[in-house]
Amino acid sequence: MNEVRQTRESIRIHAPDDFAGMHVAGQLAATILDEVGPMVQPGVTTGALDDFIRARIEAAGATSATIGYRGYQHASCISVNHVVCHGIPGDKLLTNGDILNIDVTVIVDGWYGDTSRMYVAGTPSVKARRLIEVTHDSLMKGIEAVRPGATFGDIGAAIQQHAESHRMSVVRDFCGHGLGRVFHAPPNVLHYGKPRTGAVLEEGMFFTIEPMINLGRPETKVLQDEWTAVTRDKSLSAQFEHSIGVTATGAEIFTLSPAGTFFPPIAT
Ligand code: MF3
Ligand code: CO
Ligand code: CO
Repeated sequence: MNEVRQTRESIRIHAPDDFAGMHVAGQLAATILDEVGPMVQPGVTTGALDDFIRARIEAAGATSATIGYRGYQHASCISVNHVVCHGIPGDKLLTNGDILNIDVTVIVDGWYGDTSRMYVAGTPSVKARRLIEVTHDSLMKGIEAVRPGATFGDIGAAIQQHAESHRMSVVRDFCGHGLGRVFHAPPNVLHYGKPRTGAVLEEGMFFTIEPMINLGRPETKVLQDEWTAVTRDKSLSAQFEHSIGVTATGAEIFTLSPAGTFFPPIAT
């Protein structure tokens, strides 16, 4: 996700034919997230999950958007428990009850597919399950607000309203982003806001919505590795992400799970 920074650049409007390219890229990313699901088990390392993702992207003849991106060296971000986003895969062993987000971005024929979802290793706590459900539902409320004539503030407000009504908090320090033939483009898609504010949505805009929701306070900090973002109060954090396009009547979700396993996470 983007660090929050406002720009004056304009939001690209894509042609009807461009939706097909985004669909193919989005479906590959979603398929890989489907396939990695059964591997998420206590005793597996996050590095082993990333190795699978890297090999799977290669086998598909596609390219990882994250390897080499600003010096990042992995095919996924894997963010466990109080890690908010940009967790670096490595020799960390998953243990029973861990919750984790896996975020994959692929490039297929120049188009970017960016999606993430939550997984559980073994049996999560009740409060962790509630966090995951509220985060998923927040994303879907944001997507439901998408249609030509609505505003980016409408999306943020829908997400914030749902999360805060469950006494959870919306991370402010990272946001969704425009994408298409580039990874991160205008606008910044904030996951909080006020209805009827911000840029107006138009058919042909492509962007991600990827709310990060915390059980505790919203503040984050980035660790010394310069990537891993964690909650300052060490509370659990969750995130779901879809890449979408604005259609004449609403949204096309490019990254829908072919297996139907986006949510809920399957206990492993
Ligand atoms: N996929 C992330 C996003 O949703 C970006 C990850 S960039 C990386 O925008 F370098 F950390 F991989
Ligand atoms: Co993204
Ligand atoms: Co992502």
